[in-house]
Amino acid sequence: MKTLIISSSLSPNSRSFILCQTMEKELTNKGVNVDLVKLSDYEINPYHRPRTADMDTLAQKITESDNIIIGMGIYNYSISDALKIILDNCFGGSTGKFYGLLTAAGGDKSFLATMNLTQICMNQYRMIQLPRIIYATGSDFVGDDISNEDLLERLASFANEFYDIGTKLL
Ligand SMILES: Cc1cc2nc3c(=O)[nH]c(=O)nc-3n(C[C@H](O)[C@H](O)[C@H](O)COP(=O)(O)O)c2cc1C
Repeated sequence: MKTLIISSSLSPNSRSFILCQTMEKELTNKGVNVDLVKLSDYEINPYHRPRTADMDTLAQKITESDNIIIGMGIYNYSISDALKIILDNCFGGSTGKFYGLLTAAGGDKSFLATMNLTQICMNQYRMIQLPRIIYATGSDFVGDDISNEDLLERLASFANEFYDIGTKLL
């Protein structure tokens, strides 16, 4: 199974990136071929601005993956500008694919903000979402480490379920 993890935050201190790294380890331990993309390493432009070579690279990775995990921060009760740009411009090859969400937020009241992403993935790209979303807040971390045991258990459950369903859909 070839899983692409897209860490969409551009923050140098991204907490959703830490979730993505943890998921990379979990799935690699199961023998999954994982490619972790850090979007902050990519040059991206919005629609109506010049398309970059990095955007083509990302689009190709999406096309070549069996399934996708998206790491995202919550920004103003929605997805980030960078994530919207790649959804608009690079996700053509994602149609029909299985995917999952790893989310970092500042507080515990924005958990429904992931529905914006679900709407785009399901309605535009007919993707199939894992019915378990990881939602973490600032209090789950100490520095670059996840300090909440419950979150680590939820990440392990996410990895098990993503692996089980992902392999069945191959
Ligand atoms: C402009 C801005 C808007 C934000 N909006 C929300 C929000 O609506 N709800 C929330 O819980 N946290 C919000 N946050 C906090 C981020 O979700 C939090 O910092 C999270 O760690 C971001 O993910 P990242 O660290 O992977 O970039 C916001 C942060 C910024 C800078």
